[in-house]
Parts: sequence; structure tokens; C-alpha cells
Amino acid sequence: MRVLVVGSGAREHALCWTIAASPLLEKLWCAPGNPGIAAVAECVPIGVLDFSELVAFAQDNQIDLVVPGPEAPLVAGLTDAMAAGGIACCGPSMAAAQLEGSKTFTKEIADAAGIPTAKWERFEDADAAREFIRRRGVPIVVKADGLAAGKGVVVAATEDEALSAIDAIMDARIYGDSGAAVVIEECLVGEEVSLFALCDGETALLLGSAQDHKRVGDGDTGPNTGGMGCYSPVPAFPPGLEQAAFDRMIRPALAEMVRRGTPFRGFLFAGLMLTDDGPKLIEYNARFGDPECEVLMLKLKSDLLPALQAACDGELRYFDLRWNDTAAVAVVMAARGYPEAPERGSIIRGLDKAGAVPGVMVFHAGTMADVDGTIRAAGGRVLTICGTGTTLAEARDAAYRAVALVDWPEGFCRGDIGWRALGRA
Ligand code: AMP
Ligand code: GLY
Repeated sequence: MRVLVVGSGAREHALCWTIAASPLLEKLWCAPGNPGIAAVAECVPIGVLDFSELVAFAQDNQIDLVVPGPEAPLVAGLTDAMAAGGIACCGPSMAAAQLEGSKTFTKEIADAAGIPTAKWERFEDADAAREFIRRRGVPIVVKADGLAAGKGVVVAATEDEALSAIDAIMDARIYGDSGAAVVIEECLVGEEVSLFALCDGETALLLGSAQDHKRVGDGDTGPNTGGMGCYSPVPAFPPGLEQAAFDRMIRPALAEMVRRGTPFRGFLFAGLMLTDDGPKLIEYNARFGDPECEVLMLKLKSDLLPALQAACDGELRYFDLRWNDTAAVAVVMAARGYPEAPERGSIIRGLDKAGAVPGVMVFHAGTMADVDGTIRAAGGRVLTICGTGTTLAEARDAAYRAVALVDWPEGFCRGDIGWRALGRA
């Protein structure tokens, strides 16, 4: 098969690394990719939203399958554009990607399918939203209805915080039209976990789960990020509970999407809160998680490529994926200043030594290479360093041994990834 992965993060590096190992692969490309991905795929300098160029490239190179990583091109209709060009794409249509693109849509699907989730209301009028917040009291959660690069959510502990969120989202429109409406929700309490499935419209295949660490600082302090590290398996989410959550939160959502005439294909990500009343849905994402993808790909024993093709062809019901009985821990290294204003351009050394630690894989995200091969920081999240082992503690220790070998004074990471399972070191 001739395969094109779309994206340039550590998630896409992990997908490329996995697909590159498939005996079914003839050639792998990645658009636009990064210097780490360049070791396993040919990188082509096309942006993830340049649909006409992506489709033309796929046609010219007889691509059999496109595998999109990030949500932005999916929500903007990459799968539809590929379909119109006669190219198979393992992602949701623009209509199905609304599951991620709109908070209201997610909540409507959850309510229609009887999926447990936080109580919610939607407001298009800022004054009505403020009035509701004053009436309901805190804690309360305010969300921009549309996409906001993972930032449009405020978990407000005080009324002032909640009201300021309305000012910023609805009046100042800091996320543009994504703030034309807000969803205001009951605040859920518990441990968060990310649950993943591969879907072909009708059938969902469980890909497993991981626990992410969203705050930038140790002890879960500081602003939210795309994720600073994660681990799998999650002891607080044992296989029985994982399967029950899959049956309760994924299958009914797929059935509801079919009923609406917008079947969901591709990676489906359910963000859950493990509350005292059982798992509740926080959100869906129409894509794999990052860094969750990295740890799950390290645990995957089966060939991913035929499953991705089956997801496109509607034949996942014949599939079964096998997993290594190992633990994996991902530690994200970010550029100083992340998430507000990451510094670009600093030199990163020692990646070969880090990658040589037994059980370790180094995935690149925001990196760039000079002509002489020198690696520099070129984004917020820059590397995902993954350790594997027979236990979570072993996996974590391997990951941090590798982190210590990365010579990058301008980078930082959290020192406590896995703390809910392992305690603080
Ligand atoms: P979202 O973009 O919907 O995933 O929200 C980002 C983060 O906000 C989640 O990962 C949670 O940590 C938090 N969050 C969202 N909704 C709720 C809720 N109803 N209760 C508590 N925390 C929430
Ligand atoms: N790590 C969470 C996400 O991918 O959104």
C-alpha cells in the first residue's frame, strides 16, 4: 500500500513509525512531517489545510490510503475532499467531525444516545449566560461552542472567573466565531481518562485508554496544554470498566451518528471523567490523542495498516487487534514559554543517546533540522519521550532516563508523569 499521513506532531510520528513496520506497506509519505518522521517516511512540504495540493499529491502518487492526524483538516473537510478526488481517507467526513467541532453537537449526541455526561445549557446571548452563572453558582464550566485549539474551556472555581470567561469568549471573541455561543456545564469531579476507538461507521474497535496530564506544571498546576505526558494502562480504569465505558460511550454514539446519516469513520477519542457515579463523557474528539497515540502505538502488537484500511472499507467487524501486555509512559518535552509563547530555535542535542535507552522511543513534534542535521525547537510541544516496561514504574523510569540524556537547556518537562498511579517521586 501507498500511504500518506497528514500532520507534523509526535502523534503523526508514532502513526508513521507504526505504519512503516507494516509488511503491507510499499511507500509512506507524510505531509508536512518533521525531522523525526523523515527517518521513516518521505516528508512532503504541504500544509494540513492545503486540500487541493494534498488531493493532487495523493492522485499523482497513487496513494491507497490517507491517514489524517490532527482535527483541523478533518473539521474543515479533508476526508470529503479526498473522497471527491477518489482517494480513501481514514477519517470522519466534515459532517461527522462535528462531534469534535461543536460542543453543542457533542452534548446533543450524548443526550440522544443516553450517554452519561455533565448537565449543560447553551447560550448565544452573553447576558443570559451571565445570568445563568449567577443563578447556578460555582464551580461551573464555560466552553466556547466551536474549536479553540483546545483552549476554549474554563473550569471556574469563582463567579468572577466564570463571568470573565463570558467576557473573553462572547464579547471580546478571543476565539473568533467559535465564541458565538457557549456551553455552560456542571463541573464533574474525579480522575480523567482518554478512551480510544477505531471506527468504520458501524463498528468500533477498542484501542485502549491512557491518562493524560493537561496542566503544564508538576502537581497539575499552571495553564492547560495539549497534554504534557500520559501513561497506559490506567490502574483507576481497569479492563472491565474500560469495556463498560466503551459499550456505554462509544457504541451508542456511533449508532446515533448512523441514525443521523453521518456515520463516523476514523479514530474516535472519548474524554471521560471517572466520577463517583461512574464514567461520564466530557467530550469527543474526532482524532487520536497526542501524546496518548504514542503510548498506545508502543503497546500495539498487530499490524495497524489493514485495520485502518478496514475502517475505510466498513469491514472492521472482521478485525481484532492484539496488544502487548506492557506498560508505557510518555513524557512531553516542551520549549520554554509553552503554552503561552514557546521560544523557537534552540538547539537540541543527545537525541541518539536518549533513543538508545532500552525500551525507549523518541517521537518528534515541533522540531526542525538545519542542513547539517542539527535539530532545533520549532514549536510548543517538541518531543515525546516514551518508555516501556513490564510495569508502569519501569516504563516511567526508562522514559526519565532518556529525558536526562536530552541536552536541551531551553526545554522542560513535567517530572511527575504517572503520579496518580505511581505516587510522586
Ligand atoms: P474539553 O476541551 O471539553 O476537553 O475540556 C478541557 C478540559 O476541561 C478537560 O480535559 C477537563 O479537564 C476540563 N473539563 C471540561 N468539562 C468539564 C466538566 N464538565 N467538569 C470538569 N472539568 C471539565
Ligand atoms: N492529549 C489530549 C489531546 O490530544 O487532546
